[in-house]
Amino acid sequence: MTVPFLDLRAQQAEIADEVEPLVLEVLRSAGFIGGPHVAAFEKAYADYIGVHHCVGVANGTDAVELALRAVGVTAGGEVIMPANTFIATAEATSRIGATPVPVDVDDECLLIDPDAVAAAVTDRTQAIVPVHLYGQVAPVDQLEAVAADAGVPLVEDAAQSQGARRNGRAAGGLGRIAATSFYPGKNLGASGDGGAVTTNDEELAHNVRLVAGHGSVVKYKHEVVGVNSRLDSVHAVTLNAKLARLDRWNALRRAAADRYEELLSDVRGVRVPTSLNGNADVWHLYVVRLADRDRVLAELNGAGVGAALHYPEPWHLTQAYSHLGYREGACPVAERAAKEILSLPMFPHLTHEQQVVVRDALSVAVGDV
Ligand SMILES: Cc1ncc(COP(=O)(O)O)c(C=O)c1O
Repeated sequence: MTVPFLDLRAQQAEIADEVEPLVLEVLRSAGFIGGPHVAAFEKAYADYIGVHHCVGVANGTDAVELALRAVGVTAGGEVIMPANTFIATAEATSRIGATPVPVDVDDECLLIDPDAVAAAVTDRTQAIVPVHLYGQVAPVDQLEAVAADAGVPLVEDAAQSQGARRNGRAAGGLGRIAATSFYPGKNLGASGDGGAVTTNDEELAHNVRLVAGHGSVVKYKHEVVGVNSRLDSVHAVTLNAKLARLDRWNALRRAAADRYEELLSDVRGVRVPTSLNGNADVWHLYVVRLADRDRVLAELNGAGVGAALHYPEPWHLTQAYSHLGYREGACPVAERAAKEILSLPMFPHLTHEQQVVVRDALSVAVGDV
């Protein structure tokens, strides 16, 4: 038996009866961009997160960029973010002409370290970006204090955390503004690229909508130089159907994470992930840590188990960001973790039987048979 890293077809099968007639209707009506399905989704997602506003955009990278722009990040400014994130958080900053500043993560959860953030604040800092990586909510309460001291906003990158909660409050509603991605593989994924910005602040939401729509909210009345970043109707149809199932799917991910914890408890040398106190995490990814990772990864893949790396190289050490001049040692916890992390198959429809196959393959690969 082989185990895929992610089985999106199972999700698709579950929503097919509901979504397919509506997609056909969208195609026949030729109402491709915006429209009632998008408006309904924006309202439903804002309600789900518990904020007043949601603006659908074209992808998560745009969402981060638009959120940063809305809070006043400008060329020449600095944006503090974890070294352990997908490169898109940094790219969104660079596109504004601002500089992404990497800080280290805590060794337990690999989430942004508030003390490292405090140490990185300068008079050019314009925003702090907690990334709720792997579906685990960052310690926003401690970061709020750092952000307040620095006089800058928290802009959440909630791309991997739809439905996650910290002390009862949803990720995406914990900062001044938040960005999320509906890339198909996310916990809440569209039928292609999509994203959203969420906030309680009406002015910020208006700014995002304005910039995302070529700088106009009234057709051909262009107030600012904007971009084109909109959510398509077909995606909204899919998102509406998946949003209705998100809590159940996230509960299935939690159950799968609990099963992994139990199954892997007697596999020596494998460190399983833990949640911060107060978190109800949603395990977008289930990331273990172990020695000799590249060999183990190759063996798992060779045995038909779809393991992957998130991410093999911290963004500040990538060739793309070599111009910033960071060297190994800048963020030691994140850099060490990048050599030890291994993402195991994780998706709502993952079965106990499949997880036993993963455990067995892992046991063999780490030599604990
Ligand atoms: C943490 C993080 N931020 C931003 C993004 C960017 O989202 P997208 O791929 O929709 O542009 C992603 C997803 O790929 C992500 O995982």
